[in-house]
Amino acid sequence: MQIRLERPEDIAAIQSLITAAFKEMPYGSQTEGAVVDALRSAGALILSLIATEDGEIIGHVAFSPVAINGATNGWYGLGPVSVRPDRQGRGIGQALIREGLARLRDIDMNAQGCVVLGDPGYYSRFGFVSDPGLRYGDVPPEYFQRLGFTGIVPEGEVVFHPGFDAT
Ligand SMILES: CC(C)(COP(=O)(O)OP(=O)(O)OC[C@H]1O[C@@H](n2cnc3c(N)ncnc32)[C@H](O)[C@@H]1OP(=O)(O)O)[C@@H](O)C(=O)NCCC(=O)NCCS
Repeated sequence: MQIRLERPEDIAAIQSLITAAFKEMPYGSQTEGAVVDALRSAGALILSLIATEDGEIIGHVAFSPVAINGATNGWYGLGPVSVRPDRQGRGIGQALIREGLARLRDIDMNAQGCVVLGDPGYYSRFGFVSDPGLRYGDVPPEYFQRLGFTGIVPEGEVVFHPGFDAT
């Protein structure tokens, strides 16, 4: 398995992968692929990594800037993250996320941290924690987590990029 940045010729396969990964998920909205396209079109897909095996795309993770209290200030959102159904549970998602978090800090020397909306049991292994000071709408706090890179964590309301409103 290899991890690398997406290339233009990967875009259609990334779409198919995301659709397949979220298809059976009760919390999936079937808009996850459109979100990634919208982020890319808006220039907000700050980091898009794929995992490949024998030349096939089997995993993908996206990162985009988030706003806290209306300002983008070095915080990013992780997601969506997708692993092909027949390859799930083999560490590919974890490898993509760890690589992405490391690369975020290379891309933005002033990166402050990352937030994620999802299962806390999965994301806590990367150091994500629930923080009552950092809120995301009406989402129960345990499902919204943050990972600070610097020790300085702002308080306030987090807003994902408008690309997440893609339908
Ligand atoms: C979630 C997902 C990206 C994880 O990637 P993966 O390669 O399958 O998972 P990994 O092998 O890295 O990690 C395995 C661990 O994750 C857990 N896990 C797998 N899918 C999970 C899910 N949907 N929610 C929570 N935990 C999950 C496994 O139980 C396992 O836990 P353990 O290590 O404590 O035994 C992948 O399963 C996927 O694409 N799911 C469908 C899309 C999705 O739900 N994306 C995330 C939305 S927040």
